[in-house]
Amino acid sequence: MWQLLGRVSQRGAVQCMYHRAVRGAHHLTTPIFYVNAAPHLGHVYSALLADVQHRYSALCGLEAKLSTGTDEHGIKVQQAAAALGLDPSDFCNAVSQQFRTMFDTMAVSYTDFVRTTERRHARAVCHFWKELEEKGYIYKGVYEGWYCTSDEAFLSQDQTAENRDKEGNRIRVSAESGHQVHWMSEENYMFRLSQLRPKLLEWLSTEPIHPAPFLRIVRQWLEEELPDLSVSRQRNRVSWGIPVPSDSSHTIYVWLDALINYLTVAGYPDQNLAPWGPSTHLLGKDILRFHAIYWPAFLLAAGLPPPKKLLVHSHWTSNGVKMSKSLQNVVDPTECIRQYTRDGLRYFLLRHGSPERDCDFTHLTVRKLLNSELADALGGLLNRCTASTINPGQRWPYYQCRSVPTAAHDDLQRVLGSVQELPRLVEQYMTRFQPNKALEAIDGSVRTSNAFFQSQAPWKLFKGDEKDKAWGQSVLYITLESLRLYATLLQPAVPGLAKTILDRLGVPNVYRNLKGNYFFAATFGENCSFQGHPLGPECGLLYPRLEGDKE
Ligand code: ME8
Ligand code: MG
Repeated sequence: MWQLLGRVSQRGAVQCMYHRAVRGAHHLTTPIFYVNAAPHLGHVYSALLADVQHRYSALCGLEAKLSTGTDEHGIKVQQAAAALGLDPSDFCNAVSQQFRTMFDTMAVSYTDFVRTTERRHARAVCHFWKELEEKGYIYKGVYEGWYCTSDEAFLSQDQTAENRDKEGNRIRVSAESGHQVHWMSEENYMFRLSQLRPKLLEWLSTEPIHPAPFLRIVRQWLEEELPDLSVSRQRNRVSWGIPVPSDSSHTIYVWLDALINYLTVAGYPDQNLAPWGPSTHLLGKDILRFHAIYWPAFLLAAGLPPPKKLLVHSHWTSNGVKMSKSLQNVVDPTECIRQYTRDGLRYFLLRHGSPERDCDFTHLTVRKLLNSELADALGGLLNRCTASTINPGQRWPYYQCRSVPTAAHDDLQRVLGSVQELPRLVEQYMTRFQPNKALEAIDGSVRTSNAFFQSQAPWKLFKGDEKDKAWGQSVLYITLESLRLYATLLQPAVPGLAKTILDRLGVPNVYRNLKGNYFFAATFGENCSFQGHPLGPECGLLYPRLEGDKE
């Protein structure tokens, strides 16, 4: 038997080796969200993706910062406030607070929440503008073309298409978002974007955009010449924004203003921007052009390093259509939290959503997934191996190497093989920005553990002779250890549920991260400090089954 376990251990004891991995997530950001309407599920998803990366870094013993916030200037917000007869700043305060409350409720571990109406941000924007001006990247010119207020975007003719409005009138829309555009002709300040194409191509050659399909899209965009970009609007049209420092008859373009939030939270212009280099921006694919072309171009023009990494995700749809405030087809996260709990919603969004492709949201899918994976598989495993019927002493059992019956070798190999692979798999998926696959892998192992427990049936073994009893204890030890590993790895995705499990297993706080945490030590003949240690108090059902999971 020592042979068998020896082989397993040679491939590397299940211990954390992540701290060796070089990960770039030192400064993580989410988009800052427009305050023209309340947060919906799509915003929560973005924040969660960033949160799970952030928490995973911490789990591996790496320190990272995570910023989020609200984008409060521009015609879109100005109009939303006016429509309600509110002063724009009162309106912004109220909606910004809704975002903050939502992210707090969802346990998003942000370390900074930035608002573009803050003074520190206005300082950063003005300083940055002057840098661009001094370096010769800004000139006055006439902008003539399409403007999409909903996207706050200047569009070329071929970025627009013809469509009809509700009354059947012919209108022009943005080809990408479908939102209406209007012709405008204005004297504006222009940014020499056209000059930055070679530098952008150089930046792109470092493959900073993930997943790969989005990198290809940006490559295509850069195959063509880039026109210069209008970076101001006349103040009489857009009054809700930061004035151009040298000319108060102009307001700085809301996207230039907004993107600089990433510098504001890094302490610009006061800090030396050493922490700026390893920046990772997380964003939805709808705002790829702003982050993959305009933002690096602005930074390069100002003599700052372009972003290290862009992590791009796809959209949640509702009946196949992108969930969006302007289309009024949004799912309300508060209602989802009420129905599924915070961690239930977190688990669903992270597990079912895929950064690579759009995903449809239906309540039926949520209920099926949560019942199957949280209530049945994970909750079931916790119940089985901690029940007082199977473990009357409520202590961690002792593993006995010599107890493994020949008939159980294959089963044991399978379960140990699965758990041993797991931390490495999770790391790989997290590094590749595939938290959904990481959760899928954990669920797969949970199922393997359930099958092992079922096939070895320790409740029967405990009725047998000394040898059977010893093997029964060993089965219980392996199952509890597996569960401890799953709960440890699940902390970034479902911090509350993971805590419930770790508390129930009596795991002290020092054993809750991955750095230097050994798993299955006793199966390698090493000392495991958990053996003989008491379990924690009874915790009831981990995740009660949801009604209505059938068509
Ligand atoms: O664009 N599915 O803000 P915004 C998934 N203020 N994610 C979604 C989504 C959906 N259906 N809908 C929105 C802005 N999102 C600018 C950003 S950054 C310097 C300025 C998420 O309120 C997704 O991350 O329109 C998307 O990129 C972001 O919300 C847009 O939020
Ligand atoms: Mg939007």
